[in-house]
Amino acid sequence: MTNLDTFKIDISKAKQSKIEQVDFDNLAFGRVFTDHMFVCDFVDGVWQQPKIMPYQTLTIEPSARVLHYGQAVFEGMKAYKDVQGKVWLFRPDQNFNRINKSAARLAMPEFPQTFFFKGLEELLKIDHQWIKSGIGNSLYLRPFVIATEPAIAASPANAYKFMIICSPAKAYYTGKVRVLFAEKYSRSANGGVGFAKAAGNYAAQFYPTSLAQKEGFQQVIWTDANTHENLEEAGTMNTFFRVNDTLLTAPISDRILDGVTRKSLIQLAEDLNIKCEVRTVTVNEIKTAARNGELKEIFGAGTAAVISPIEAFKHGDEVFELPEVKDSYADLLKTSMLNIQHNLAEDKHGWRYEVK
Ligand code: COI
Repeated sequence: MTNLDTFKIDISKAKQSKIEQVDFDNLAFGRVFTDHMFVCDFVDGVWQQPKIMPYQTLTIEPSARVLHYGQAVFEGMKAYKDVQGKVWLFRPDQNFNRINKSAARLAMPEFPQTFFFKGLEELLKIDHQWIKSGIGNSLYLRPFVIATEPAIAASPANAYKFMIICSPAKAYYTGKVRVLFAEKYSRSANGGVGFAKAAGNYAAQFYPTSLAQKEGFQQVIWTDANTHENLEEAGTMNTFFRVNDTLLTAPISDRILDGVTRKSLIQLAEDLNIKCEVRTVTVNEIKTAARNGELKEIFGAGTAAVISPIEAFKHGDEVFELPEVKDSYADLLKTSMLNIQHNLAEDKHGWRYEVK
């Protein structure tokens, strides 16, 4: 068993970096990966020696359980570089706790905290040149766990791979987003896995989202599976609604992801004296507010998307276009959060984590 206090990661470095081939001004989200990756296998009940190695293809058997039953969870995090060249993570403890919550729900083993943090830190030190400074730049980090045991039996695996790969990133969505409020399909249900970052939660949205896209709407805002009357989350983002000067967002539940950006924005809203109500938000109240001119903004919030303003929504046969607002809460909150993430503002909640 690897000693959790004294262990050292096995490191083998890439012979040559690919960084020269990358156009950092024109990055499509999640297409380019850094030179190295972190890998740790779980075998016979024990997490094995963690390794950092050149980014490369994996070899797994076609019968690996992840390929049949989707036993896979992941996280989304970002690293930022400030003007002095220091590298920062944003609330990484939240991602660590959440990946283990997701894993527990999918009957997967917990990953040790020291491996998670040491793995991230070593990887970021080796690939630090891939993190560009300046607002709008970040290195997206994707920790994930897959069931590798070869067996097409529908039960939890006894072998897993925990990995971290890194991808230089700009915004996930470019420009404003048009959304549909879900009326037929559902993303999650009570007692399900909606709160987890389970791979299958995302695949399940692809088909209904593709139908929305054919109508000119990039995303779906999911509603509760029982009544389709309450607005929940957008699948890649949590959602916020501004009615007059109050922000509304749905409470987390076993159907809704406990987003790190979401919870940070609720706190920042309080810091900025913006009233934010965490409560059930109904489709009807948002449509009524839109008709009365009281709906000022809708935006999505997530690690990849940061804050993504929504310009229109459709429900039933009606399309509602949102007004252009001056000094939008989306802009205010985004600036305030990015300034903390990039070490340009005071971090009074202790959210920044320096990678040394
Ligand atoms: C994230 O925001 O980090 C996510 O995991 C969403 C994903 C669809 C990019």
